[in-house]
Amino acid sequence: MTKAVPFPTIRPRRLRTTAGVRALVAQTTLRVDHLIQPYFVAEHEVEREPIAGFTDVCRLGIDALTDTIAADLVRGVRHFLLFGSSRERDAQGSAASASDSRVALALRALRERLGRAPTLFTDVCLCSYTSHGHCGVVTDAQVDNDATLPRLADVACAHAAAGADFVAPSDMMDGRVGAIRSALDAAGFPGVGILAYTAKYASAYYGPFRNALDSSPHGFDRAGYQMDPRNRREAMRELDLDVMEGADLVMVKPALAYLDVVSDLAAASTVPVCAYSVSGEYEMVKQMARAGLADERALAVENLTAIRRAGAQAIVTYFASTIAREGWL
Ligand code: PBG
Ligand code: ZN
Repeated sequence: MTKAVPFPTIRPRRLRTTAGVRALVAQTTLRVDHLIQPYFVAEHEVEREPIAGFTDVCRLGIDALTDTIAADLVRGVRHFLLFGSSRERDAQGSAASASDSRVALALRALRERLGRAPTLFTDVCLCSYTSHGHCGVVTDAQVDNDATLPRLADVACAHAAAGADFVAPSDMMDGRVGAIRSALDAAGFPGVGILAYTAKYASAYYGPFRNALDSSPHGFDRAGYQMDPRNRREAMRELDLDVMEGADLVMVKPALAYLDVVSDLAAASTVPVCAYSVSGEYEMVKQMARAGLADERALAVENLTAIRRAGAQAIVTYFASTIAREGWL
């Protein structure tokens, strides 16, 4: 008696025959609605400033930014994450919470011109405003967690006052989501949400981004506050804390190298899970395409599909605008 083998009766290829059949059984969707486009606000009113090592990404003046976002909206990109920086840097990152910071001015200009149409997220951190490039206040060559919390709360309130829908703390201080939530509520912004960078890893993928904002840390690296790439379970602990403290959305960052973490959080979270496909992930695609080793569109869409397949609801990606403009989906 030979043991019955499923082949040739069972043939998985029957579900791969035509584009129609493949679409019928596709388990993962990827739409422009799922994407959040990051933009860098230039420190002064220039058109656009190229960024070293960051292909096709520029810092934008506020006029150029509002024009760009207006055009994105027409093509279906509706969600944006704004980053800023300042030439005036000090130990506390004072410029980050100014009511007339470049990010605050950009928010006001965007609201004036586009109303509530765009979903505006702002990055809340100090590293592009501190003299030492760290994400918090530094005392005795260490980032002082608790001294940083009121600074982050001030930044969040300044962004809320200028029109942010969601603030997105990326610093990885303990307790910052709760501190920001309390401060927003006390300042009269109960409707402004928090997208927490819940599992943000100390990653080598942030290079082009740090060029964009001149935000590389001095003296020591960020391993004392960002998560260790070897750790998976710890992300669940951060998830519990951030949700308890009031996070409306949580995020894993980077994305591609951390899809196990995206998957874990997606399975356990009571709030939507986002993923940040960071500058280094983007630039790898650009470099592959430039070298003629891959089709840029196919590679970008495959990566984003994988991030969705792992369970991310929304994805922050530098490709969002291009995808909509070029009709890649
Ligand atoms: C800083 C911050 C970083 C990124 C977003 N916010 C870099 C860092 O931690 O040094 C990286 C994003 C990217 O690489 O696209 N708080
Ligand atoms: Zn930072």
